[in-house]
Amino acid sequence: MDSKNLIVIVLAAGEGKRMKSDIPKVMHPLCGKPMINILLQQLNTLNFDDIYTVVGHKREILINHLKQTFPDMKFVHQIEQRGSGDAVMACKDAFKKFDGNILIIAGDMPLIKGETLKEFTDAFNEQNLDIAVLSAFLDNPYGYGRVVRDGGDFTKIVEERDAADTQKSIKEVNSGIYCVRAEHLFRLLDKIDNFNAQGEFYLTDIIQIGKSEGLKVQALSFGESDQFFGINNREQLASAEKILVARKISKLQSEGVTFINPDTTYIELDVNIGKDTVVYPNNHILGNTKIGQMCNIGGFNTIKDSTISDNVFIKGYCYIDRAAIDRDSQVGPFTHIRPETIIGEDCKVGNFVEIKKSVLKNGVKASHLSYIGDADIMEGVNVGAGTITCNYDGFRKHKTFIGKNVFIGSDTQLVAPVSVGDDTLIAAGTTVTKDIPPNSLVHSRVKQVNLSNMGMKNRK
Ligand code: UD1
Ligand code: CA
Repeated sequence: MDSKNLIVIVLAAGEGKRMKSDIPKVMHPLCGKPMINILLQQLNTLNFDDIYTVVGHKREILINHLKQTFPDMKFVHQIEQRGSGDAVMACKDAFKKFDGNILIIAGDMPLIKGETLKEFTDAFNEQNLDIAVLSAFLDNPYGYGRVVRDGGDFTKIVEERDAADTQKSIKEVNSGIYCVRAEHLFRLLDKIDNFNAQGEFYLTDIIQIGKSEGLKVQALSFGESDQFFGINNREQLASAEKILVARKISKLQSEGVTFINPDTTYIELDVNIGKDTVVYPNNHILGNTKIGQMCNIGGFNTIKDSTISDNVFIKGYCYIDRAAIDRDSQVGPFTHIRPETIIGEDCKVGNFVEIKKSVLKNGVKASHLSYIGDADIMEGVNVGAGTITCNYDGFRKHKTFIGKNVFIGSDTQLVAPVSVGDDTLIAAGTTVTKDIPPNSLVHSRVKQVNLSNMGMKNRK
């Protein structure tokens, strides 16, 4: 059978009661991404014609979200959440003219891998089956539907709450992934009832009915057991995230990245890190962050949506958000780099320096205690300790421009908008309020007065 003839149904209408949340369950993030997005990405391994998501509980939020990331997604509304069987049944009209295969996936199992789905659907085709359930063997099968076999022959799925004690010891479980020939699916669903512990229409009941009709039904098992983790509560959400982080770190390790004490680093799925970079303990590396090769990421940084080129040294305790740092630069410790900051090559930004929406060209140094906001700082500038760009007048933000090779003495205030010409020397303690032509010496100090014999010895 041609695997092209495949439609996917994702079940995501359930209320997710056990999450105790106002957010639809499948939108809860794992490693910074809604779990449904993680699942949907895995479907790329399959050659499907169409994809439907069954929505219900909080559906506006979910539809709005999915339309942005998966514009081809179609939606089916399950009006009342009466069980997984009822959810698939809601697709009936949409599938009237379809006679291929239908892959059904519960939306709450983001750890599944695309390669496993491919093996499963390939086996379904090769064995010419009518219904297949992807099963898994779990040490702790609690909460899952059990795969009941009679002399090895798959007969039915029994839910935890409906299972007899002897059935509860079965370790083969229903993963929540099914492949069914469309010509049978809706006919079988017409026959299921809700006479069970939860009073729900169970999709899983099509197994027993299909068997009784003589259809070819199998439970097939592929992939490691951690892929079948279903998320129903916050504890499982946290456990699933742990698995995803461990997978991500092990992939980066295989690509040549060193993690020291990796259990302490939290890293999101889209992060890229080049080889021979060393990540010290307790880092949070988030979003679309790219880190180059040979970098040294000291402990306790948060780096979010940022690009860090090769051979950069982040010394630790830094918060870096939506910024770019070019090669051979050094940042930290205790540096706050805020969005839209671009730091050039071979720069040095030191402790207690905050930079916002500014450009530092190559070789700029701001080693201590500064606020740099809305500033363009040209090559080779030295920003002395305690320099502040006064960019905000209470109403608007203003820009500061500093030309090449300027030396800014310590404790200088630059009252923006203001522009400093190349090669200028600003003396320590200057308040710059006017534009400065190139190659100037600038100071704005009041004259120092020394009064003799009025020091501490004269005070009682
Ligand atoms: C389900 C399976 C169980 C399996 C487990 C795997 C059934 C009856 N049981 O149990 O055998 O081991 O998944 O994780 O299917 N949904 C709807 N509409 C509804 C009810 C549910 O769309 O009316 C969706 C949910 O959003 C969810 C999926 O179906 O994505 C599964 O529902 P859930 O309540 O999580 O089922 P489990 O109890 O986990
Ligand atoms: Ca579930």
